[in-house]
Amino acid sequence: MSSVVSELEAIRDEAAAAIGSAADPGALEEARVRYLGRKARLVQIGRTMKDLPIEEKRLVGPALTAIRAGLEDLVRARGVELEREAEAELLATDRVDLTLPGRRPRRGAPHPLVEVVRSLEDVFVGLGYEIAEGPEVETEWNNFEALNIPADHPTRTDMDSFYVVDPLAARSALLRTHTSPVQIRTMETRQPPIYVVAPGRAYRRDETDATHSPVFHQIEALAVDEGLSMADLTGTLDAFAQGAFGSGTRIRLVPTFFPFTEPSAQLEVSCHLCGGAGCSQCASGWLEIGGAGMVDPAVFEAVGIDPERYTGFAFGMGIERVAMIRYGITDIRLFLESPQQFLDQFRGLPLVR
Ligand code: PHE
Repeated sequence: MSSVVSELEAIRDEAAAAIGSAADPGALEEARVRYLGRKARLVQIGRTMKDLPIEEKRLVGPALTAIRAGLEDLVRARGVELEREAEAELLATDRVDLTLPGRRPRRGAPHPLVEVVRSLEDVFVGLGYEIAEGPEVETEWNNFEALNIPADHPTRTDMDSFYVVDPLAARSALLRTHTSPVQIRTMETRQPPIYVVAPGRAYRRDETDATHSPVFHQIEALAVDEGLSMADLTGTLDAFAQGAFGSGTRIRLVPTFFPFTEPSAQLEVSCHLCGGAGCSQCASGWLEIGGAGMVDPAVFEAVGIDPERYTGFAFGMGIERVAMIRYGITDIRLFLESPQQFLDQFRGLPLVR
């Protein structure tokens, strides 16, 4: 037998073994290049065939063609096999068990303060008020000056307020200490009649305890129109109290002082637990929820509204205070820390009891 043919057969056996045992597409390609590529021994033999004697050429030619075709088939077949193996492996590792029960997402609920704000907004919107907003970082003008709060008022010191720009700087800025600056922003940008309500966050340098928090929420109402009187304020507060705490709730105005209202009053509502008779929650039968009064003419002057033509009233309330009364919560810190067990209790609770 021709020595070339036996060399071809040896190459064929070696190549077939290498192709058959290629463990991945990379190894298979390597084997293909080695045995069928441009520099492969088979190709070299093909090139030197012309130098062989004619009888040997007759043997080597067909053997070479058959062996090359056979090896090419093997490469293709092994490629298909490897692809199938990879697919099977992927299916095995990526298996999804459709019979597993799903993970139930935890159902969220609005924070109780959000619930209270929404319900109070609803009451005001029902009375024809629009929602107004203002930033939490305010100018001293909006937070104090325009509200007739004099320079020597204790709330203006850095003992009581969080300044973000030095209080001694020409134009200082601070975290608003109440929502009343929204009154100023509103009156500076629009003309009466004005009926707005502004909920939002406010900040004071208070030590945290069961009833004080340096971050808290208020809701402010402002009405400016021709001929508004204390009777309109009282009637509005009355309607508000019924809406916020339930029908039958009574209000009481206790004289007090605010620089931006004159006269000014502390707003109290009858205790919803005892109806005003006095109980462990309220002691006196009444609960203080905020401040109110007729807009001071000095405030109108500061914002360029004619105090001879217009009058107005304003009131502001603590949202946490309203929430604590409504839900019987005794520690304001729960709103800030909002532990899950606390929040869970409010899911699906009726807004007004
Ligand atoms: N801004 C006052 C406070 O924070 C509340 C208030 C608002 C009083 C509007 C009168 C009118 O205490």
